[in-house]
Amino acid sequence: MNKKVFITGAAGFIGYHLAIHLHRRGDSVVGYDNFNSYYSPELKKARAAELEKLGIPVIQGDLNDSNTLEKSIVNHQTSHLVNLAAQAGVRYSIVSPESYLKANIDGFLSVLEFCRRHPHIKLTYASSSSVYGRNDKIPFSIDDPTDNPVSLYGVTKKTNELMANSYHHLFGIAVTGLRFFTVYGPWGRPDMAYFSFADKIMKGEPIKVYHNGNMFRDFTYVDDIVAGTAAAIDLESQCELFNLGNHQPEQLMTMIEILEELCGKKALKTFLPMPREDVPSTYADIAYSQEKLNFQPKTSLRDGLKHFVEWFSCYPNFSH
Ligand SMILES: NC(=O)c1ccc[n+]([C@@H]2O[C@H](COP(=O)([O-])OP(=O)(O)OC[C@H]3O[C@@H](n4cnc5c(N)ncnc54)[C@H](O)[C@@H]3O)[C@@H](O)[C@H]2O)c1
Repeated sequence: MNKKVFITGAAGFIGYHLAIHLHRRGDSVVGYDNFNSYYSPELKKARAAELEKLGIPVIQGDLNDSNTLEKSIVNHQTSHLVNLAAQAGVRYSIVSPESYLKANIDGFLSVLEFCRRHPHIKLTYASSSSVYGRNDKIPFSIDDPTDNPVSLYGVTKKTNELMANSYHHLFGIAVTGLRFFTVYGPWGRPDMAYFSFADKIMKGEPIKVYHNGNMFRDFTYVDDIVAGTAAAIDLESQCELFNLGNHQPEQLMTMIEILEELCGKKALKTFLPMPREDVPSTYADIAYSQEKLNFQPKTSLRDGLKHFVEWFSCYPNFSH
């Protein structure tokens, strides 16, 4: 049956792609976003304009404005709520810790309180691989301990999982958390390494390479993330948690080499030590997601970066 899906953070990177996917398969989709200036609001507006062209409205509002949030979700006769709105990014949590508490803790509480008043609506929400911190067992399994995230961002995402579990227990809300692993692709986030590296390589500016490039990331193409998220929305479940990652970690230097080839220029590299808020590797164990969601990431890093660079060549102004 077609669903009525309400996506917070719909003018964001993943929300934008998810909204299009759900719309194309026949769901009725409404988005919600505060269009904040953490990165280019122009990019967020451009994504929203693309969604509006397809007939997907994006309401401007904040998670913490509980009246507007409630009215918007109820007006849509929402059956499925997807919370992607958050203050994302690991490094910025050193610069502006309070924005993480406001969006990710207060904002998520506002979402959960809404669900408490409307417990028939299923909640799917974004968590992150950051909850694993410097887990030295690889791949990262959903059963591994996650009581030691290294960044405040990771702490807020772990807190979201605990809050969701508690509201499920107390008020019977169906909740599914998704631990996304380094998502990339067209219409992406300018604060992420692959995006800023491509921008700087094209402009001939130096890029900052941490830990001598000796880092592994489980880069996951956005279409694969969207397929897994759609399957999680569809799953009849009460309280679940899934890893959504490519299950194929790549060296940071490999990502840079592919970008150099695709951009046709060598990167000027400045090597820097590992920041304390960062982790040397991420690697998703996806056995449980394969079993329950039929999650099968299909996109190689080379193909995914090619799609990104093609898009970026058409929209070079969205680089901040
Ligand atoms: N992209 C990744 O690699 C990645 C990895 C792990 C987890 N995540 C999580 O996935 C979700 C989506 O990430 P993304 O990459 O699309 O980020 P994004 O920043 O592009 O999207 C988030 C959107 O939420 C909006 N927003 C922020 N605070 C808000 C608030 N208080 N009220 C309303 N809107 C608000 C922002 O304007 C933005 O458009 C986030 O929760 C993020 O933490 C992303």
